[in-house]
Amino acid sequence: MKRLEGKRAIVTGAGNGIGREISLRLASEGAMVALADLDEEAAKKVASEIDGDTIIHKTDVANPEDFEALVGRVVSEWGGLDVMVNNAGVGVAANAPDTSLDDWQFVMSVNLKGTFLGMKYAVPAMRDSGGGSIVNMSSIAALVGLKDRAAYSAAKGGILALTRAAAIDHIEEGIRVNCIAPGTVETPWVDRITSGYDDPVEAKETMKARQPHGRFVQPEEIAAMAAYLASDESASVVGACMVVDGGVTAR
Ligand SMILES: NC(=O)c1ccc[n+]([C@@H]2O[C@H](COP(=O)([O-])OP(=O)(O)OC[C@H]3O[C@@H](n4cnc5c(N)ncnc54)[C@H](O)[C@@H]3O)[C@@H](O)[C@H]2O)c1
Repeated sequence: MKRLEGKRAIVTGAGNGIGREISLRLASEGAMVALADLDEEAAKKVASEIDGDTIIHKTDVANPEDFEALVGRVVSEWGGLDVMVNNAGVGVAANAPDTSLDDWQFVMSVNLKGTFLGMKYAVPAMRDSGGGSIVNMSSIAALVGLKDRAAYSAAKGGILALTRAAAIDHIEEGIRVNCIAPGTVETPWVDRITSGYDDPVEAKETMKARQPHGRFVQPEEIAAMAAYLASDESASVVGACMVVDGGVTAR
């Protein structure tokens, strides 16, 4: 039997990059996956690659009505919720004085508020389903100081703290909450963030060189960790921050 056979999962930011790989991996391990993304077309493309039950739901994770509707739809169509992957996130490359208030709000809203809403609506559905696993996407930016990532680091640090608090709040209900802290992962995101620099090629090489194992982390490697955290194999992993960074934080 597959490790996630029959599990009902939601992945946010499922249309691209890490969320896409997590969705494909959970599905390949037997889960039914609800693909939630602002970019509905991208989510549809991912669904077309999955040979199994999917739901495509256009969702802005920063919008409570969208989130409530997403979870409600999964519960009404599949009868419950077992796995919630709060992956959607955005970044802005700037230090604190160069971060506009709008950019601060945007980054906090999608990353931190989005993850909070994911838990706000997923936890009651998981209670009714007899337990579950929540996987939040933090970053090594929550663990070490990275240049030009002020708002992003604050948001990802908030996700780490929220993960630990929620893990303690809900473990007695059979709901485990953990997060993943990736290093630099090769996704469309990396190109977007480096395009803001004077020399995007040099900026990309600098990001790569930051990884002690000499390459970008691959989205499949994050997906493998997410599948482990989603599965019962990680039953004693509670409130953990699983670092997948090629050694950046080992220095
Ligand atoms: N790529 C990296 O190096 C890296 C490193 C550490 C952490 N992360 C985190 O991993 C997660 C995924 O990153 P990625 O590199 O795959 O990014 P990506 O930009 O390649 O994909 C993100 C997806 O999220 C969707 N999205 C954006 N805003 C949304 C919103 N408000 N509501 C719903 N969906 C939304 C986008 O449409 C896109 O499909 C993010 O939380 C990011 O912070 C990425």
